[in-house]
Amino acid sequence: MGKIIRFERVTKRFKDGTEALKNITVDIPKNKLTVIIGPSGSGKTTLMRMINRLENPTEGEVFIDDKPVSKMNVVELRRSIGYVIQQIGLIPHMTIEENIALVPNLLGWDKKKTKQRVQELLEMVNLPPETYMHKYPVELSGGQQQRVGVIRALAGDPDIILMDEPFSALDPISREQLQHELKLLQQKIHKTIVFVTHDMDEALDIADYIIIMRDGKIEQMAMPEELIKRQKNAFVREFIGEKRLENMWPVAERPIREFKHVFKRNPIEPYTSVLDTASIKEAVRLLEKEDKHALEVKRKDEKVIGYVHAADLLKAITGVKGFE
Ligand SMILES: Nc1ncnc2c1ncn2[C@@H]1O[C@H](COP(=O)(O)OP(=O)(O)OP(=O)(O)O)[C@@H](O)[C@H]1O
Ligand SMILES: [Mg+2]
Repeated sequence: MGKIIRFERVTKRFKDGTEALKNITVDIPKNKLTVIIGPSGSGKTTLMRMINRLENPTEGEVFIDDKPVSKMNVVELRRSIGYVIQQIGLIPHMTIEENIALVPNLLGWDKKKTKQRVQELLEMVNLPPETYMHKYPVELSGGQQQRVGVIRALAGDPDIILMDEPFSALDPISREQLQHELKLLQQKIHKTIVFVTHDMDEALDIADYIIIMRDGKIEQMAMPEELIKRQKNAFVREFIGEKRLENMWPVAERPIREFKHVFKRNPIEPYTSVLDTASIKEAVRLLEKEDKHALEVKRKDEKVIGYVHAADLLKAITGVKGFE
């Protein structure tokens, strides 16, 4: 299962004097997808690369499950962490199968188990193994290569997966599709995923937690629904976008029953009850007042029509067409 990653007073000063990280202390929760977002140069990549020791802190320490990474064997550490970089990084003279099997081979898995794993992963991202296993990276589209990059990071069954802007080179449609696949995948595998992006829509859509960085520091860390409700400062507010926040409110006037597509059948506790005619806005206020994160939605005749997580509700509102 996933692991908790802890940064304790981490500062990174490069040789030229650039201070890329300034005294960062943060816990990245276990089994959750945490998105790091912030302007270019704010230190996102540097922060992520400290986890698998591609960078070392000038001061402070990074821990995985309470063990300092500086005391771990660096080769083993990197094999135990999946890493997806923006440039994909498939090895051109190896087939797709060989690319995905890289880490399992390093880990010494037997051939049969590895082959099975490769096939299972390809199926997971809708690339039929019989068609794709024996192709070379150049024979795949950008989006298909990107998918292979993602599953390759999963191949050795790592507890932690680092993804640095993995979808940024894709067209909007492939991108949305891959975001969707990543969400479904995470519902199955529950890894500790750290995901860097520039894109707030992407962050709100896929994140369990969002960390907003500026200039080597963390400005705010929160769940998407908290971030929309409360911004710690003007920078965060501006970064999310005044327009996004304003546009959300007209949608929030609509009755909750219109968002039935995010309802679940089984109760999510602890919840609070609302009528299906209540507006999203009213529902959000009620959640705040009662300090709950889920709703039971009932009709006037008391029949329960479903349950919904605050986060899913938020995603439904932000995903409404014509928004922006
Ligand atoms: N090897 C290096 N030597 C000197 N400065 C560096 C080095 N690597 C990164 N930096 C600087 O550290 C700061 C943070 O860089 P980093 O790559 O972490 O930013 P980022 O948030 O990932 O940006 P982007 O969104 O553009 O990828 C930047 O000012 C960058 O120029
Ligand atoms: Mg970067």
